[in-house]
Amino acid sequence: MLGLRAAWRGTQNNVKRVWWRDSVQNRADMVGLDSSILMHPRVWQASGHLDHFTDPMVDCRACKRRFRADKLDEDPWVHFCEATKGNKFTIPGGEACKHCGKKRTLCPACGKGELTEPRQFNLMFKTFMGPVEEDAAVTYLRPETAQGIFVNFDNVLQSMRMKLPFGIAQIGKSFRNEITPGNFTFRSREFEQMEIEFFVMPGTDEEWHQRWIDERFAWYPRYGIRKENLRLREHEKDELAHYAKRTADIEYLFPMGWSELEGIANRTDFDLKQHAQFSGKALEYFDEETKQKIVPFVIEPSAGADRGTLAFLVDAYHEEEVKGEKRVVLNFHPELAPIKVAVLPLLKKNERIVETAKKLTAELRTRWYCVYDDTASIGRLYRRQDEVGTPFCVTVDVQTVGDDKASADEKVTIRDRNTMDQVRVPMSSLAEIIAKLMDGAWPDVFRDHGITKH
Ligand code: GAP
Repeated sequence: MLGLRAAWRGTQNNVKRVWWRDSVQNRADMVGLDSSILMHPRVWQASGHLDHFTDPMVDCRACKRRFRADKLDEDPWVHFCEATKGNKFTIPGGEACKHCGKKRTLCPACGKGELTEPRQFNLMFKTFMGPVEEDAAVTYLRPETAQGIFVNFDNVLQSMRMKLPFGIAQIGKSFRNEITPGNFTFRSREFEQMEIEFFVMPGTDEEWHQRWIDERFAWYPRYGIRKENLRLREHEKDELAHYAKRTADIEYLFPMGWSELEGIANRTDFDLKQHAQFSGKALEYFDEETKQKIVPFVIEPSAGADRGTLAFLVDAYHEEEVKGEKRVVLNFHPELAPIKVAVLPLLKKNERIVETAKKLTAELRTRWYCVYDDTASIGRLYRRQDEVGTPFCVTVDVQTVGDDKASADEKVTIRDRNTMDQVRVPMSSLAEIIAKLMDGAWPDVFRDHGITKH
């Protein structure tokens, strides 16, 4: 379990790292930011979250459980069927009872209580600033990282001397008092977002919106998501958030069905204007060409790091049969794999082998996340690394270190996780060869060193 947790965190860190590299480091038009989680409560008034960030909820009058009114039809429901002498059935969401034909009208959990009329329930977590728990001190944990970007717009504009179009990106925790958490990490109360607010000239917003939709849709397959498991879904007019002119969601086919990975919204000039109004400070851009002050429009690609990680994990999972046995492999893109290299001694009782393997691990560790393992037979060690998605295993054997009969050849074996192909390379150039392999250069390495085993 601990191993799984470490693997999950490691993969999620890598998802965030490649997002940051592709969205910030590799772009001249992007600035990275790390804004506060707690902000002045008026920020949430300005953003509209205090009024609009709500879900309609209903309560059961009998068992007192609470449900999202807009999701009731999707969830299974409990039914005591009179046509079968009151027998209890659990019926899939949206379906009628096969015996009496009735649809759900009572509480889906206890099957007995009447439900109240829907009431709006705000999803923000409340807390108090300072020592006194009074109304004047109420504030909220941020439900999205975006607002921290808007309130820092002028700060970034002035200090980084940015010209439109440009973006501000950040990765950080957001908090929502979700009423129906479940589906593992998919909907949690504390999760991480990877958000970009991209500021553009009004009038160019629709074109930039489409560019970002295309860019973000192409990003997931680059790191291993299968194209057939991705789709774009346009928001209907009545579904659009209060700030949005158009939104397209990137959806992924999770084991529990299609669901959102990332939303890409055209937020217009709504947020900058709102914050200017509530703070009394203009949030504008001076256009050198027209000599006019303008309020930029905003395109927002907003991705969930947790949902993304889950999707990469699901698509990487693969089972196959090798020599009559089941092999479980996580076919992670090397950049996402939590462990990049495992160094495995062929004989754990041979001191020279163990010493050499440990030394190699220490050297490789300075560049990649690397582990040493000698706690099982070589076949078992390989399978363990396959299961956690380690792209390369390095094996040190008797030939590497030599013995009474033969001198050391100072070569080690690298094994590829996906093909199980092996190649024997000089220890002195191991790091350089692994760097090539990380970039997908197997053909070059095989040409230079030749496959020794498949
Ligand atoms: N700033 C816009 C915004 O926050 P959102 O669609 O509410 O938009 C963006 O959230 C992304 O954050 C979603 O696509 C999803 O990946 C992730 N997300 C939202 N709520 C979540 C939750 N409760 N648990 C995990 N991820 C969540």
